[in-house]
Amino acid sequence: MAKRFEPKIVAFLCKWCASAGADLAGVSRLEYPPNIIPITVPCSGRIDPQFILQAFKEGADGVLVGGCHTPGDCHYINGNFKCFKRVTLLKKMLRQFGIDERRLRLEWISATEGKKFARVVKEFVEELRKLGPIKVT
Ligand code: FES
Repeated sequence: MAKRFEPKIVAFLCKWCASAGADLAGVSRLEYPPNIIPITVPCSGRIDPQFILQAFKEGADGVLVGGCHTPGDCHYINGNFKCFKRVTLLKKMLRQFGIDERRLRLEWISATEGKKFARVVKEFVEELRKLGPIKVT
């Protein structure tokens, strides 16, 4: 029987919201696939596009970016808005490198949304399984 493809996902998570949401999922004992490698950052606005490209270069099949909800929720005022603009641009660039833009996912997850965090990880793993292993050219 063929072994099921298990995508590797690097997740850059804002400390104040998405990372806290991931912690809540853990302490609430919510089940989600163990495919993610979480990296906590102070704010989603701190995520340099090079971090994401490096993750793909080093073999990530997908990258999840998680930040605080609306611009007013960001602890640094508009870091999540900057993140949104960067991710939108980066998705267009990924196509140029032959990387399907669905491999980069941006989600706003608050500290109280452990269920949402678990759901997003499950959905992303399923989507990446359909896309298959990454082939960076
Ligand atoms: Fe969470 Fe800025 S502090 S996105």
